[in-house]
Amino acid sequence: MKTVILSLLIFVNVSFAQTIQSPHGKLSLTFALTTGGVPTYALQFGNNPVVKTSRLGIQLKGEPSFDKGFVIASVDTLTHDETWEPVWGEVKRIRSHCRELAVTLRQPSIHDRTLIVRFRLFDDGLGFRYEFSRQEPLKYFVVSEEQTEFALTGDHTAFWIPGDYDTNEYQYTTSPLSKIDATTGKAADEIYAKTAIGRNAVQTPLMMKTGDGLYINIHEAALVDYPAMNLIVDQATFKLSSHLVPDALGNKAYMQTPAKTPWRTIIVSDKATDILASKLILNLNEPATISDVSWIKPQKYVGVWWELHVGVSSWNYADVDNVKLTETDWKSLTPNGHHGATTARVKRYIDFAATHGFTSVLVEGWNIGWEDWFGKWKEEVFDFITPYPDFDVNELQRYAASKGVKVMMHHETSSSVTNYERRMDEAYRFMKTHGYDAVKTGYVGKIIPRGEHHDGQWMVNHYVRVAEKTAQNRIMVNMHEPVRPTGLHRTYPNWLACEAARGNEFNAWSHGNPPEHETILPFTRLMGGPMDYTPGIFQIKMNHYRPERGEQVHTTLAKQLALYVTLYSPLQMAADLPENYERFPDAFQFIKDVDVDWDETIILAAEPGDYLTVARKAKNRDAWFLGAITDEHARSSKVSLDFLPGQSWYVASIYADAPEAHWEKNPMAYHIEHVLVNSRTTLDLRLAPGGGAAVSLKPATADDMRRRKE
Ligand code: NOJ
Ligand code: CA
Repeated sequence: MKTVILSLLIFVNVSFAQTIQSPHGKLSLTFALTTGGVPTYALQFGNNPVVKTSRLGIQLKGEPSFDKGFVIASVDTLTHDETWEPVWGEVKRIRSHCRELAVTLRQPSIHDRTLIVRFRLFDDGLGFRYEFSRQEPLKYFVVSEEQTEFALTGDHTAFWIPGDYDTNEYQYTTSPLSKIDATTGKAADEIYAKTAIGRNAVQTPLMMKTGDGLYINIHEAALVDYPAMNLIVDQATFKLSSHLVPDALGNKAYMQTPAKTPWRTIIVSDKATDILASKLILNLNEPATISDVSWIKPQKYVGVWWELHVGVSSWNYADVDNVKLTETDWKSLTPNGHHGATTARVKRYIDFAATHGFTSVLVEGWNIGWEDWFGKWKEEVFDFITPYPDFDVNELQRYAASKGVKVMMHHETSSSVTNYERRMDEAYRFMKTHGYDAVKTGYVGKIIPRGEHHDGQWMVNHYVRVAEKTAQNRIMVNMHEPVRPTGLHRTYPNWLACEAARGNEFNAWSHGNPPEHETILPFTRLMGGPMDYTPGIFQIKMNHYRPERGEQVHTTLAKQLALYVTLYSPLQMAADLPENYERFPDAFQFIKDVDVDWDETIILAAEPGDYLTVARKAKNRDAWFLGAITDEHARSSKVSLDFLPGQSWYVASIYADAPEAHWEKNPMAYHIEHVLVNSRTTLDLRLAPGGGAAVSLKPATADDMRRRKE
């Protein structure tokens, strides 16, 4: 191993080099100062280079940069090994075991300014960040670009979406790095507010596979007070360079020492399943500071939501526009007759939630402003406290409480974030007064302050402010259209989920998400944290609502069930209409049974873009759930249940595609089977094109065993 690293270093003139190994020696990292005092790093997996010697550095505006002229001031190494328990998650306990190398660099010609590069090397990957200590020659500075590079070893296959300052709602493309053309961003015209960077720019998490079968994932951890990082791909040399999201003036970040950047993360393995099992990003985030977490509840919810997206009802109360928040008497508007969030309709959802064991009911379109909402880029749209005349907040508070159900608040900010910031305190007070303890926020449209971007430093700070303020008010939060997550749910466990990718909603009104979409999401978007994908659509084709409609969900019904297991989130919606669930009560049983918080997760089989099989053990109870999904190809998946304990018998309820099922031709054909199984059983799951299978496993009772003998 050392020989390989040394041979890499021979090509460059090195004045200092140090190599560390990960705890079990799987990875090695070399930091080196090359000619001119330029800091670099290189990463190897066994004998395979993952990242060749690559530059590190930060460019400052109006002053000399942190990119050359360095000498070594000091080098520290240490080992971290701790095990911690997340408030909720895919596993009960997480071990964080790594070797750390902290290099303090000094620039003798620039008043001895110092910069620390801190590396943490785990067996499943590397994290590193820049730290700027409080120092006389450096108190305030503006970052004009980060110069971090990732020099890859070849033309890897990449699973990418276009680099963009405002949106992550693109479809994924799979192509070699050399063939990336982000100007053709698939179905990009369906995204309303976007600011694409250019031909060879992509977003993180960037998933790649090498010709030798190595899986590499590049992302970041703990994105706080700094813009998100996109990557510019050099298509001749396969070197990726960081490109930060700018502010309205073109600057990237405003810093005051002491300060630090987020961690840059490179997760590596020769097994795709290891990438999904990695806890590296969480381990690089700070522990939670809230001590009483008893009010934070992983949960399943239903809501006045899909019916809005499929056009059965509307967010707005009246079919008018040009109504000013401050001047209009909303009581005098003529209702359009198909407003969704009426007291009666919400009661229907509350009853449904109570009958079937859902914690809460999301209600969108309850508050005035929707008439004036879409695409206006105006500052005063919603006030977050005034209900429409047909939505009785007090009565619904009483009714929901009597049924043991919570109503979930919705704050569409319309991306007028100045407006939201002004009204946030009052909005959260209103929630507490009316019994709400969870809010879904949303950022549709171009940001106000105008010129700022969804993924810039200003907005990154806003999302964190919302996480903090909701926590202070004991409110759980789910953000739509924010920057993609970076593991901050460890620090803010009330931040249950984000959308931050192309969700199921696109299947309701656009070209939708191709069958492979959900096999890529876990390797990309979900690397940073849970997604509110809103699975569980049973009525697959939209011509059910209006004959002329051609849209459809691009999966089978059984695959919609499997998504509850394969797309991890502590917050899962049963997104379809109650009326559709009532048509298929046997299939709905899986959604009622499935857990959202886990003791254990086993990634049984995975290949980005192709398939995924996951088994999870429910938190604090003896029940397992399994999900298997495929892309557009049919597959048979043999799943050994050897993860089940010892000799115990379980009843497996298998929700599978019917033999004739097909995501396009026959998506709603499923069958359900109940069989007795144990750790020696192998299930043979047959997945239709665009299909999936969901399995619940609960301990067999004496009766179940007796029936087996008969
Ligand atoms: C986009 C969100 O993703 C969706 O869930 C919500 O219904 C609409 N915005 C309206 O706020
Ligand atoms: Ca969205």
